Amino acid sequence: MNVSDALATRMSCRAFLPTPVPEATVRAILEAATRSPSGGNLQPWRVYALAGAPLREFVALVRSRLPTNPRGEGSEYDIYPTGLWEPYRSRRFECGEDMYATIGVAREDKLARLLQFARNFEFFGAPVGLFFCIDRRMGPPQWSDLGMYMQSVMLLAREHGLHTCAQEAWSMWYRTVGEFLGLPPELMLFSGMALGYRDESAPINTLKTDRAPLAECAELRGF
Ligand SMILES: Cc1cc2nc3c(=O)[nH]c(=O)nc-3n(C[C@H](O)[C@H](O)[C@H](O)COP(=O)(O)O)c2cc1C
Repeated sequence: MNVSDALATRMSCRAFLPTPVPEATVRAILEAATRSPSGGNLQPWRVYALAGAPLREFVALVRSRLPTNPRGEGSEYDIYPTGLWEPYRSRRFECGEDMYATIGVAREDKLARLLQFARNFEFFGAPVGLFFCIDRRMGPPQWSDLGMYMQSVMLLAREHGLHTCAQEAWSMWYRTVGEFLGLPPELMLFSGMALGYRDESAPINTLKTDRAPLAECAELRGF
């Protein structure tokens, strides 16, 4: 698999097979991803991987807290800016609508939407759950470095026949994540990520999200 294939076949997988992923594979992915660039080579990423018993224990803990706290614990950062404007507002709306359409959930069916959203907190059935953290004293440049590390993980996963779904949704449970992982106070959670083998029969995995034409995000001059 080359980089183009990895990019073209990466998608946000929201239903996984329970097939375990060997520790050596996860280790190899996380290690190879450390070749990601970072400003000043700070390498500001910190990643935690859960599988097996600790993953089950963690998911059960969150499940036990969901009924009394359906909105989670708030978030340490704003996932989106308030009053999201065009064209971003429509892109976000469409991606949500297209996703629920794959599983036949109508816009009015708030309960079904909530239940699907709650699947985030089971890592969509993935056998591996990753958490990406950063020192809270770091700024936007280092957050961008962390994003590059995450993208490397997602592309390397494809090389191993695996799929992923980045999950900012986990930031809603930052206290529980921090408590469970024993995060030092200076580390904050940015995002989780589900990792595993894609369930090829799951309708939700048929979602193919759109992209705006290149002209909307790039200008080439002097060629
Ligand atoms: C940092 C980050 C966080 C994300 N968080 C979530 C999430 O919490 N739950 C979810 O279902 N998808 C999440 N996504 C997936 C995006 O919705 C998805 O990348 C986007 O719609 C484009 O679709 P694609 O990944 O299938 O190409 C996240 C993606 C990124 C990059």
